Amino acid sequence: MTRTPPETANLPPLVPKLALLKLDKPTTGFYRYLYDVVGRPWHWVDRHRMTDLALGGIITDPHVEIWVPYVGGVPAGYIELDRRNTDADDRRTVNIAYFGLTPEFFGRGIGPWLLRAGIRQAWSSGIDRLTVNTCNLDHPAALPLYQKCGFRPFQMRDALFDPRR
Ligand SMILES: CC(C)(COP(=O)(O)OP(=O)(O)OC[C@H]1O[C@@H](n2cnc3c(N)ncnc32)[C@H](O)[C@@H]1OP(=O)(O)O)[C@@H](O)C(=O)NCCC(=O)NCCS
Repeated sequence: MTRTPPETANLPPLVPKLALLKLDKPTTGFYRYLYDVVGRPWHWVDRHRMTDLALGGIITDPHVEIWVPYVGGVPAGYIELDRRNTDADDRRTVNIAYFGLTPEFFGRGIGPWLLRAGIRQAWSSGIDRLTVNTCNLDHPAALPLYQKCGFRPFQMRDALFDPRR
């Protein structure tokens, strides 16, 4: 969790033909493609289990923003900001629900740039806190990157992973 917006600029990495676009009413097919290519190596499963109706309701919700970096026109990953505040305590919270790149685009600085762009976007609407969930199945660079971007742990829990479920 972080409670303060970043102070430093977010320079794009030296990657030719880099663009960042917000999805406007994404189709479930395109979203499922992104979720699969980004999440498959990391055992992301929850959204695979959703019906198109349920998934479509989330990804077209006006409080959910999905930003996609394109490299030479090819989608390289995404970051999903969830402003649907489900906290009981009334604080304006944005949660980074999903964030990642497809493996072909690792190692070029696109991930840190995308994360910082998402963080700035999240803070742009005046919020109290920004949260993100990560687990030890995620890429080993994920946690250090979150910490470098100012996130501090506020909740930890043990969970058993069963890929068949
Ligand atoms: C995590 C992720 C976004 C990083 O993006 P990236 O563009 O590949 O990042 P980079 O390779 O440019 O490196 C980012 C930093 O992580 C470091 N890093 C790279 N691989 C690492 C590893 N195996 N262990 C620890 N740190 C590592 C880099 O040295 C770099 O640090 P620096 O900024 O101090 O130089 C990307 O790997 C990813 O999408 N992973 C899969 C999905 C995922 O795990 N998402 C997080 C879910 S919560």
